[in-house]
Amino acid sequence: MSVVRPKLPVDPIVYEPAGVFATGGIPRQSLADLAGPLDQARTDTLSDVDRFRSGGVQPGEVLDSAFIDLPDRLLADYNTQRPRSELFAILTAARRIREAVDRVVVLGVGGSSLGTRALFESCCHPFHNDLPRGERGGRPRLSFEGFNIDNDSAQGLLDLLAAPQGSNDLLHRWALLVVSKSGDTFETAVATRLFLQALFAAVNGDRRKLAALVVPITGKTGRLADLAGAIGCPDRFEIPAGVGGRFSALTAVGLLPAAIVGIDVVRLLEGAAAMNRCFREAPVADNPVLLYAGVSHLAEVGMGATIRVLSTWSNRLEAVGLWYDKLLSESLGKAGQGATPLTTVMTRDLHSRGQQHQGGRRDKLITNLLVGAPRRDRLKLPPISGFAGNEDTLDDLVGTAWPDMLAAAAAGVSEAYARDKRPTADIVLPRVDEHTVGQLLQMLMLATVAEGRLVGTNPYGQPGVETSKKLMLARLRP
Ligand code: PA5
Repeated sequence: MSVVRPKLPVDPIVYEPAGVFATGGIPRQSLADLAGPLDQARTDTLSDVDRFRSGGVQPGEVLDSAFIDLPDRLLADYNTQRPRSELFAILTAARRIREAVDRVVVLGVGGSSLGTRALFESCCHPFHNDLPRGERGGRPRLSFEGFNIDNDSAQGLLDLLAAPQGSNDLLHRWALLVVSKSGDTFETAVATRLFLQALFAAVNGDRRKLAALVVPITGKTGRLADLAGAIGCPDRFEIPAGVGGRFSALTAVGLLPAAIVGIDVVRLLEGAAAMNRCFREAPVADNPVLLYAGVSHLAEVGMGATIRVLSTWSNRLEAVGLWYDKLLSESLGKAGQGATPLTTVMTRDLHSRGQQHQGGRRDKLITNLLVGAPRRDRLKLPPISGFAGNEDTLDDLVGTAWPDMLAAAAAGVSEAYARDKRPTADIVLPRVDEHTVGQLLQMLMLATVAEGRLVGTNPYGQPGVETSKKLMLARLRP
């Protein structure tokens, strides 16, 4: 009997800005007028890839454009040189770790953590870590540390990792992924020491076992690379030169932990590559990346919408929003410029921020991140009987499905904002899966860079953060 694998859906995500123009705050023509500059921003964004490759980086310039064609390159290598490809190495290491342990701790901060969280929360079971191993398909739990210097949180994770004395049970074994492009970020470095000590104790001081359970993901050189050498880790992954931290989710940084917890990383990359194709080829008027960058820019300069609310309509997308908060603010918040990003989860935040978004200062562009279809069976409102009647007066809604209630909420909120001339756009994901999440991450990264090129801000590098880091260390090492 032949086994035919069902063809998984690859429909594109869609950007719809009609609600912004409907306010009358900016004329549609202004977008048409921006087509030339947006086209130029695309050319600049793409030519930066060649400029990086051909060594055309100017002295003192930060140019992290290598993330752009990375999904295409990873897939091409995987398809043509399989056993020698980076993706093959990632999948092989993922399988080894998956079979060896029941929990993986990811140490990293900023771009070395948030992308992985975004992938984990959007693509895995929403309660992955709470499921027994069998129901996780034998995939380890994933925990995050090293993104702060929080005493009690680190202690709490150490509590979870502590195995009963003498236990060699797989369910008590854990591994460490240490992620840092520079290899010297303080939060990650101090956590690395702490968790390495705990892991060394857990393997009873066996250096070979320790080495096998630590996977560093870092730049070619640096302190973490040196530490990995000293430990003798058999698996190490390099964050390629020219890929900055916040653009690294689709390198080993995100792909290794994603593959460990069972996310289909090939489909993630295929989604990102599809978005690349669309960005390169689609005319401005049909190009979600350029339209999103252009409309967001116009709302900022034409309507004073300096706050960009990414209003996610799924709990699973909150971490994508937090990753995007960092991406946008660190990339464009420079030289006194740059919109302020803010993530909300609806309808949760209708009950906290809704009043302000509806009636507060007119400084916001709301971009809804909507989901077409749920992944699981549609829940329906059940009848209530045996212990109560219609006290909650919901009988008329019996049989109404959860996605339909959420759609009603989204439509209701949009209508309310429209009545009050609050600018609202939509990004619609047909569903939340690897392909759409790959598209979305690549779309938002490309749009951030294209907008930077449009307004003359270098989207790469984060010179401002360096000052705070230096001043922090000066206090610890006076
Ligand atoms: O986008 C960036 O490059 C930064 O925000 C980094 O992700 C963050 O500072 C962590 O740096 P590193 O990966 O070097 O530890």
